[in-house]
Amino acid sequence: MSEQTGMITMQLMGKNYQVPTGLTIMAAIEYAGYKLVRGAGCRGGFCGACPTLYRRSDNHRIFTALACQTLVEDGMCLVQMPFVPVVSRRYDLHQIAAKPNTLLQHFPEIAGCVACNTCTRACPQGLQVMDYVQASLRGDIERAAMLSFDCIACGICSSRCPADIKHYAVGLLARRLYGKYVTPDSPQLAARVAELQTGNLIADLNALMALSQEELRARYEQRTFETSEENKEPFSAIQHYNSPMDPVDYKDEIEV
Ligand code: SF4
Ligand code: SF4
Ligand code: FES
Repeated sequence: MSEQTGMITMQLMGKNYQVPTGLTIMAAIEYAGYKLVRGAGCRGGFCGACPTLYRRSDNHRIFTALACQTLVEDGMCLVQMPFVPVVSRRYDLHQIAAKPNTLLQHFPEIAGCVACNTCTRACPQGLQVMDYVQASLRGDIERAAMLSFDCIACGICSSRCPADIKHYAVGLLARRLYGKYVTPDSPQLAARVAELQTGNLIADLNALMALSQEELRARYEQRTFETSEENKEPFSAIQHYNSPMDPVDYKDEIEV
């Protein structure tokens, strides 16, 4: 890196580019002159459209990241993945039941998980991906749904999985089954849907749109969760199931 100019060198598809420090990978690619027509969406870490593989000059490993959320580094060697192909498994949620073997029936490849934990290490969301695959294998739909709750379907885990499992599709079915069959019916939700169907929501929407970003955030954070019979505390999927974010420190690993 040149300290004087604040420029660093990244390599994209085999070609070196000088880009300013402090840019995200996505911004650096655009600075280099590329127009992203695929592999870019929300630019906020939510849509999962920007999976990226990269090497560091001093490390033999392949790293993974979301291009919109990761800063470019000097010596990075980048490869964009325009998409990670998904296995399309059609099912009618109204016709299938939430049985212990439902996820395995629809995604039999989860039985080939070798517990290498590569998926967990690759996930930019910090999810316990292997654990939700294992929960799916055991037929624990609730745990699979909760552990995959924040999946953004970027597909990075799948791109690295030796068993070629499409984790995000498994998690999605788990959440659909959980939402439709496992959670108790919500009278409040039914009432709200009925309200939505009347179309008389313009006043509510206008009130929300008039809020500042801080007020909106406060409203979101103050939202209430339903309580279950056995647990009178408000239920929080994240607190209950996800362990704290534990990003892998690759420096801990033994170099050979
Ligand atoms: S990467 Fe694939 S095989 Fe390895 S733990 Fe994850 S699901 Fe299992
Ligand atoms: S579980 Fe897989 S698809 Fe979902 S966010 Fe993590 S890496 Fe992306
Ligand atoms: S562009 Fe949506 S997550 Fe990166």
